Amino acid sequence: MNSFNFDFMQKSILILGACGQIGTELTLALRAKYGNDCVVASDIREGSKELVEAGPFELLDATNYEALEDVIMYYEIEEVYLMAAMLSATAEKFPSRAWNLNMNSLFNVLDLAKEKKVNRVFWPSSIAVFGPNTPRELTPQHTIMEPTTVYGISKQSGERWCSYYHEKYGVDVRSVRYPGLISWKTLPGGGTTDYAVEIYHKAIEEGTYSCFLAEQTVLPMMFMDDAIRATLQIMEMPPETIKIRSSYNLAAMSFTPAQIAESIQKHIPDFSMTYNPDFRQDIADSWPGSIDDSKAQLDWGWKPEFDLEKTTAEMLRQLK
Ligand code: SER
Repeated sequence: MNSFNFDFMQKSILILGACGQIGTELTLALRAKYGNDCVVASDIREGSKELVEAGPFELLDATNYEALEDVIMYYEIEEVYLMAAMLSATAEKFPSRAWNLNMNSLFNVLDLAKEKKVNRVFWPSSIAVFGPNTPRELTPQHTIMEPTTVYGISKQSGERWCSYYHEKYGVDVRSVRYPGLISWKTLPGGGTTDYAVEIYHKAIEEGTYSCFLAEQTVLPMMFMDDAIRATLQIMEMPPETIKIRSSYNLAAMSFTPAQIAESIQKHIPDFSMTYNPDFRQDIADSWPGSIDDSKAQLDWGWKPEFDLEKTTAEMLRQLK
């Protein structure tokens, strides 16, 4: 066996959905690590100047197999990060569009990997794979799932297909089930956990926030820096260490809207919150409150760094 460390090797990477909430920061992190020229950002629309001008950028629809194949061949792409997706709240409004985007983009990438046109794939799953019959506290890696949202159904199906392509065709696909992600660089769009980002913007701009989830709705969450670190970490591991090829449970913290409001009040004492739950409450109620991520800890050394207090301090500092 050779002992190449991937870290020090040049490799060409493609990010699909690079202008989204995760894609933006993932692109910046991968470019910082591997060099701007090695990391091709792509999205169906143009994103921030920083992203489009710092390195290669392609306008690309991830559901278009030929266009995707062209970009992969042109740049001799080795690794693909598929971050394009329609999130939970929007997917409930456009079920078939969500299914088509979330599944066809995945099949395209998995098929290109099956044909050895790329050799490693990252695809994100979500806590949305779980449903109302799932044990809510410290949800185990392997448990009842039965998702009740369009988004959750697409993620659970995606997990099964990732596992299938790994077993049958040897595709090196890796995945984590992200909790709700909190970030300041790019706004999320169409998710049920987005309140935990909006709240910081409103706290600074207006000193008050009307929350679309109820006071005591506990959900698993994570600060973006942790999410990016987890993503880079799982992608760097030697293949034999990745024992789960559907998707790993991943956790950092859990809190309710009331608790995040309280943490903001430590910095902005006058901050006030009202609660006006809408259709997203049902989605949130179907998801776990906390996640057992011991398999990720064991297999590839996962450990989060940001709790709620640290996240709040960093969000307010960056947004101000
Ligand atoms: N954050 C996502 C959403 O709320 C879940 O993966 O849709």
